Amino acid sequence: MNDRERLFEAAKGVWGKSYAPYSKFHVAAAVLSDGEIFTGVNVENISYGLTICAERTAIFSMATRGLRKIDAILVMTKTGKTPPCGACRQVMAEFGDDFPVYMASPEGIKSTTTLKEILPDAFVDF
Ligand code: THU
Repeated sequence: MNDRERLFEAAKGVWGKSYAPYSKFHVAAAVLSDGEIFTGVNVENISYGLTICAERTAIFSMATRGLRKIDAILVMTKTGKTPPCGACRQVMAEFGDDFPVYMASPEGIKSTTTLKEILPDAFVDF
């Protein structure tokens, strides 16, 4: 299995774990870093504003392991057509300036882009 396939299988493995009772919009994500894969789902909250996206759940899990570089990320939604939200793009930029971003449905990967492409002018503090 190549890295792309590993990311897809990992996201599919947690797809059913998304907690989205309010929006009913389920998202799973998988991040590749240093050969390891970290998964995440969106976890909603009754306050709405405390909801966390699947991408950030996965990225924070990677960071918790002590890893600081994203090599690739995959976002899974029902249609496979959902690009990551702006907040998640900026969080991705914290751990790499360019890497593949895959969008998938549970049936397969539907499109591929890169962080540079979807966040050409990330905030930096100079
Ligand atoms: N969501 C994600 O998990 N990732 C994104 O990039 C965009 C939105 C979640 C948050 C919320 O639980 C639901 O999708 C609807 O916005």
